[in-house]
Amino acid sequence: MATDQNKFQAIISHCKEYGFVFQSSEIYDGLSAVYDYGQNGAQLKKNIRDYWWKSMTQMHDNIVGIDAAIFMHPTTWKASGHVDGFSDPMIDNKDSKKRYRVDHLIEAHAETLDAAAGEELIAKMNALLAADDLAGLKALIEAYKIKCAVSGTVNWTDVRQFNLMFSTQLGSVTDEASEIYLRPETAQGIFVNFLNVQKTGRMKIPFGIAQIGKAFRNEIVARQFIFRMREFEQMEMQFFVRPGTQKEWFQYWKEERMKWHLSLGADPAKYKFHEHEKLAFYADAAEDIEFEFPIGFKEVEGIHSRTDHDLGRHQEFSKKKMQYFDTEINQNYIPYVIETSIGLDRMFLLTVCNAYEEEDLTKDGKEDSRVVMRFPAKLAPTKLAIFPLTKKDGLPEIAKELMDICKPHFHTFYEEKDAIGKRYRRQDAIGTPFCVTIDHQTKEDNTVTIRYRDSMEQERIPLDKVKELVLNKINE
Ligand code: GAP
Repeated sequence: MATDQNKFQAIISHCKEYGFVFQSSEIYDGLSAVYDYGQNGAQLKKNIRDYWWKSMTQMHDNIVGIDAAIFMHPTTWKASGHVDGFSDPMIDNKDSKKRYRVDHLIEAHAETLDAAAGEELIAKMNALLAADDLAGLKALIEAYKIKCAVSGTVNWTDVRQFNLMFSTQLGSVTDEASEIYLRPETAQGIFVNFLNVQKTGRMKIPFGIAQIGKAFRNEIVARQFIFRMREFEQMEMQFFVRPGTQKEWFQYWKEERMKWHLSLGADPAKYKFHEHEKLAFYADAAEDIEFEFPIGFKEVEGIHSRTDHDLGRHQEFSKKKMQYFDTEINQNYIPYVIETSIGLDRMFLLTVCNAYEEEDLTKDGKEDSRVVMRFPAKLAPTKLAIFPLTKKDGLPEIAKELMDICKPHFHTFYEEKDAIGKRYRRQDAIGTPFCVTIDHQTKEDNTVTIRYRDSMEQERIPLDKVKELVLNKINE
C-alpha cells in the first residue's frame, strides 16, 4: 500500500495554482466533493473527451454516439435496479454524528496496520461485502476497535444501506409522482434509446452506442480530490452482441481499452486489470482497469459483461420489445451487452498525475529546478507558445502573424513579458510542448528558435515550418 501523499498534495496545489481545477464556489468555502475546471483544466478535459470520442466513434465503423438527457423517466431507475439497489453500506458514529462509507472506514484503518495485517483486514472486509453481511461488517469494525476520526470513540450505529441517487422535483407540484432523479450513470440513456438508434441507424449486431455526459452520485465520503466526486462525467459505450458471444467480446474490449490507455504513453507497469470480487447479480464478468496514482492503484475504468439484464428489464417495465432480428441466424433475441465505462474526471486525474514531474536541474553547483507537466502533445491544453524576444523592432508583429497562421489549427499562446527563461518555465508548468522565440535573426533569415518542453533542447527551424511541425506532433 505504498502511497505518496506529499506528491498527491503537490499535484492538487499545482492544479489550483495553474488554473486546472478549483474547488466549486470557493468564495463561499467550497462545496464538498464538487469541483470546477479552470482555463487549462477545461481545455485538457476537452482534449481527453475528444480523444475518447474519436477513438470510439470515428475509428469504429460500428459504433455511433448519442447525447441523452440527464433527466429520465423515473421508471428507468426502477427498471435498472438503481431505486432498490444503488446503495453503499454506511455507518454513523453516535458521538460525532459523522457518517462513513464502511469500506472507506476499514480501508483507512488497514493503512495504519503493517502490510500483512492490513491485507488480512481488507480480505475479511471483501468477503463480508461480497456476502452483503452488514452485521458482520459492524462486528469487524468493533473487533478492530476502529475509531471515528472526529470523536475518537467506537460508539457506532448498525451498518445500513444508503441510496446514492440525488432526487429532485419535476414541475411545481411537490408530490411523489413528480420526483425524478439526476442520472447516476449515463448507461441507461443508451439502453432506453437502443431501438431508436438501431432502427434509425440501421445498425447490425455487433454494434455499439457511445455517450459522454454528467452523472451524479451522493457519495457520502467523497475524498481524494477529483477521484470521487458528487457531480462527474462518464464516457460510456454499450456494445450489443449476439447471446453466447459475450465472452469473446468481453476479452476484445478489455484488450482494446488497455490499448487506448497505453496509446497515451504511460508506463505499462502503472496499469493492471482487477477482477471484481463481487459480481453484480446480472453480470457474468467484470474487470476494472486500475492505474497507479500517487495514492496507490485505483480504478479508472470498468469493463462489464451485463448480459441481457438492462434491455430485458426495460422490456419488462416499458412493455416495448427490446429485440433484434438477426438475419444471419434467422432469430429474434434481446442482445447481450459489453460495457466500457470510464470516468472523464478520473482520466483527467490520471493524466495530470502521470504528467507531473518536479525536475532537479542543478548543474555545476548551481541549484535549479522546474515543475513540468509532460502531457502527450495531443492532450496538452496549449500546443504552442510564441514569444517575441523583445517588445519592439517589429518582433511582436512577426510573432502575431505566426499566431494567426497557427490559431485555426491548434491552441496557441502569446506572451511578451519577462525573460525568455521565465516564460519557458510558465509553459512547462502547464505542459505546453513547444515554445517558439522570434528574435532579430528571424528578421534576417526567417528562422525561429523552437524549444522542446521535455528535453529543453532548442533548435533553429524555418518560420514557415512551425505550423507543420506542431501539427505532425499532435497527430502522432
Ligand atoms: N455504467 C457503469 C458504471 O457506472 P461504475 O463502476 O459505477 O460503473 C464507472 O462507474 C466509472 O465512472 C468508474 O470507473 C470511475 O472512473 C467513474 N466514477 C464512478 N463514480 C465516480 C465518482 N463518484 N467520481 C468520479 N468518477 C466516478
